[in-house]
Amino acid sequence: MSMQNPIGCKDDIQKALLEVESLSKHYVVKKNLFSPKTVIRAVDHISFDIYEGEALGLIGESGSGKTTTGELILRLISADAGRVLFQGEDILQMGEDTIRKKRKDIQIIFQQAQETLDPKATIAELIAVPLRIHRIVPASEIESEVDRLLNMVGLTGKDKHKFTYQLSGGQRQRIGIARAIASRPKLVVCDEPVSALDVSVQGQILNLLIDLKKELSLTYLFISHDLKVVQHICDHIAVMYKGKILEMGEKNQIMANPTHDYTKQLITSMI
Ligand SMILES: Nc1ncnc2c1ncn2[C@@H]1O[C@H](COP(=O)(O)OP(=O)(O)O)[C@@H](O)[C@H]1O
Ligand SMILES: [Mg+2]
Repeated sequence: MSMQNPIGCKDDIQKALLEVESLSKHYVVKKNLFSPKTVIRAVDHISFDIYEGEALGLIGESGSGKTTTGELILRLISADAGRVLFQGEDILQMGEDTIRKKRKDIQIIFQQAQETLDPKATIAELIAVPLRIHRIVPASEIESEVDRLLNMVGLTGKDKHKFTYQLSGGQRQRIGIARAIASRPKLVVCDEPVSALDVSVQGQILNLLIDLKKELSLTYLFISHDLKVVQHICDHIAVMYKGKILEMGEKNQIMANPTHDYTKQLITSMI
């Protein structure tokens, strides 16, 4: 299997790293005590493949089911139906122990990095956590590995004794990225990783994600409501609307020949 596949071409030898088949998740909600129950089909029988080295952009408006899709793939929530094959093995069927080990290979970068970062821990401690959990390096090498990771995400050793409240939004997201790549994953789900950042910082973080993808041979599921962002980083696009994937394919193909009105609107609103 080839490791480098920058344009995401699907040759005969290559197998998909992730195969999502008819994945579904619904929620039963009641608006208030007296209203009837309604069913929200957050993710409604979606299927897609991501090949090694690809960046698939999952694009759609707020509430279309993008985050739920990411959470299902990481098994942070349980699915109703479907299969999520990672290197051919169904993540949804794995026991708790196996899935804990698999998390080393599949990581996530969240929109709000600070919400996932313990405010009482120093930067060095925060980055050491995944190194310890997944036993990436021996204890004696944790400090140097933290330095290496800080360097990779554009921070310096000076930052490592700081706390997250002393950092800017962009720096905090760099910590989130360092933690995600610490376990040397193959697949990274990026859930709106730049949406909470100032526009001036968004480009820097996107470029960092592009560089790391190349350097570490990563594969991305890149979730965003912003087609401009997706266009910048992804080679393939899947358009999600009300829990379903309306269309997907190679980026330039979708941008040049969108078949759904919704996709056309997304493209028009971008200009
Ligand atoms: N825990 C939950 N309980 C009830 N409804 C939920 C829950 N999580 C998500 N939803 C609903 O599922 C739909 C998809 O949500 P989400 O995946 O967060 O969309 P997106 O990330 O595209 O904005 C929305 O209608 C949302 O309100
Ligand atoms: Mg979301």
